[in-house]
Amino acid sequence: MQSDRPLIISSVTDLRAHLADMRSQGSRIAFVPTMGNLHQGHLDLVAHAGERADHTVVSIFVNPMQFGPNEDFDAYPRTLEADSEALAGSACQVIFAPTVREMYPHGVNTEIDVPGLSTILCGHHRPGHFKGVATVVTKLLNIVQPDVAVFGNKDYQQLKVIQTVATDLLLPVEIVGVDTTREPSGLAMSSRNAYLTEDQRALAANLYHSLQTLADAVRRDQGVSTTLRKEKARLSALGFVLDYLEIRNADDLTQSAMEADTVVILVAAKLGQARLIDNVVVQTP
Ligand code: PAJ
Repeated sequence: MQSDRPLIISSVTDLRAHLADMRSQGSRIAFVPTMGNLHQGHLDLVAHAGERADHTVVSIFVNPMQFGPNEDFDAYPRTLEADSEALAGSACQVIFAPTVREMYPHGVNTEIDVPGLSTILCGHHRPGHFKGVATVVTKLLNIVQPDVAVFGNKDYQQLKVIQTVATDLLLPVEIVGVDTTREPSGLAMSSRNAYLTEDQRALAANLYHSLQTLADAVRRDQGVSTTLRKEKARLSALGFVLDYLEIRNADDLTQSAMEADTVVILVAAKLGQARLIDNVVVQTP
């Protein structure tokens, strides 16, 4: 079983040398950045990446720069052994698993920021979070220099931030978003679901149910603001502490949702120890 596990590389120099070799053989390179503790959602991204390239790199790095002082950086599950087993037989040939020192040898002196997008929604509730994401993803893209990089639509705002960075900095990479992988209950898979008790996990699927109820109202263009109010009240009564439940323009996340052809309904809420996010994209009538 050991043999079809991906190669694990932890140094930037070694990864660059390995990828130069692959490129010289004409390989197209795909990249899937993660923080590890891999679940089926991550594996679906890897499968998607594998379809678009000859050689797929997955990074596993719990990035301190994107965690706030009172967030779960220390508690975040680090499961490299299980992750490499989960990737055995997948399209991933190489895991890049650097240390914090390898990624930030001189600390943080340069930051990548997308001011407007980074301070709304999750950015409002997690100050500095998207600056940390944008900075580490830019660094990772500089290291791997992939032809294509694959991200989950589940982290919709993150995907928008990364697309904006790639466009604005003229990065020579295609950024691809992949649909959210869900539990049979509808709950979006997430490493942070590990923080839920069994009862909370059953409750957590209500986030997706609310998104679907709202999506229905948007599609029918009927009672959208009443439904929004009702769903907020229902989730609060179930024990969720809502950060937001909002309908936004799917292109740029501005509030001009009702004039847009496509909207995204986004939710973020705490349930016990876990902060959960989810979204659905809907065409307006
Ligand atoms: P992480 O939470 O590990 O997620 C890695 C990638 O998997 C992201 O692109 C995320 O959107 C995607 N993903 C997570 N759950 C998913 C699901 N249920 N279905 C489909 N895709 C899913 O997001 C991060 O790490 C970090 O912020 C990172 C981009 C690696 C930068 O540190």
